[in-house]
Amino acid sequence: MAGDFFLKGITIISIENIKKTFMVKNNQIEVIGNINIQIKKGKFISFVGPSGCGKTTLLNIIAGLESPDSGRVIISSKPSKEMIGKIGYMHQKDGLLPWRNVIDNSVLGLEINGIKRTQAYEIVRPLMKQFGLSEFEEAMPWEISGGMRQRVALLRTVAYEPEVILLDEPFGALDALTREDLQFWLLQLYQKLNQTVIMITHDIEEALILSDKVCVLNDSPCSIVKNIDVPFEKSEKHRNTSNVEFAKLKSELSYAIRE
Ligand SMILES: Nc1ncnc2c1ncn2[C@@H]1O[C@H](COP(=O)(O)OP(=O)(O)OP(=O)(O)O)[C@@H](O)[C@H]1O
Ligand SMILES: [Mg+2]
Repeated sequence: MAGDFFLKGITIISIENIKKTFMVKNNQIEVIGNINIQIKKGKFISFVGPSGCGKTTLLNIIAGLESPDSGRVIISSKPSKEMIGKIGYMHQKDGLLPWRNVIDNSVLGLEINGIKRTQAYEIVRPLMKQFGLSEFEEAMPWEISGGMRQRVALLRTVAYEPEVILLDEPFGALDALTREDLQFWLLQLYQKLNQTVIMITHDIEEALILSDKVCVLNDSPCSIVKNIDVPFEKSEKHRNTSNVEFAKLKSELSYAIRE
């Protein structure tokens, strides 16, 4: 129905009947059961779930880096494999290139998308300032802390403003204050650019602050056991953590993870 279509928005990511098994010591282990979800343009979705339940595997499949045994992922009307390099993916391991310094790692996504390095420097420099990295432009990845590496990886993922961003525990190595600053920064960025974001996190509060929808995954095999639409206004989200409704959703989600 046309009205329905406009009311609900345009589906930009369609995850259809995804199943995945791995062979471990001659045993076939079913890691992803049967995952189906449609994500609308401009929405922020978080997946939360216990360690080892299959979150990174699912994100790799969405990114087109790993093939499912059955099912498919369509992004912007194309199979996800055709979107490699066009969507932003911040891996759980930061993946910084050891032979490139901080600023040259930061411009990688821009360079892959055809921007000359000198022009790319001008684009990332204001971001480096916001991320507290300006003084470390020339540092090599092994010379900076885990939290700083994570900030470089996030900066690299968002710098070329991709339409779709996948984030695998993007704030895990950060201290509480830096984490809060970058969460707020990300919230503003994706609203401004109307980006679609899928984020994996262990932190339910973080998921509720940032997301329009939170999906709880559970293991053996990985499937969506609960999903909730977050009822707070985006601009107000970061201020809601002390209200009753927030606390209720937080306990509902932690209950679903433990079940
Ligand atoms: N290439 C692989 N070969 C065999 N088994 C794998 C492979 N990749 C992942 N697995 C297994 O699949 C399961 C899910 O792994 P995955 O990394 O997706 O979990 P996760 O939910 O991201 O965990 P964490 O929260 O600790 O990051 C684990 O049991 C893991 O050992
Ligand atoms: Mg993982």
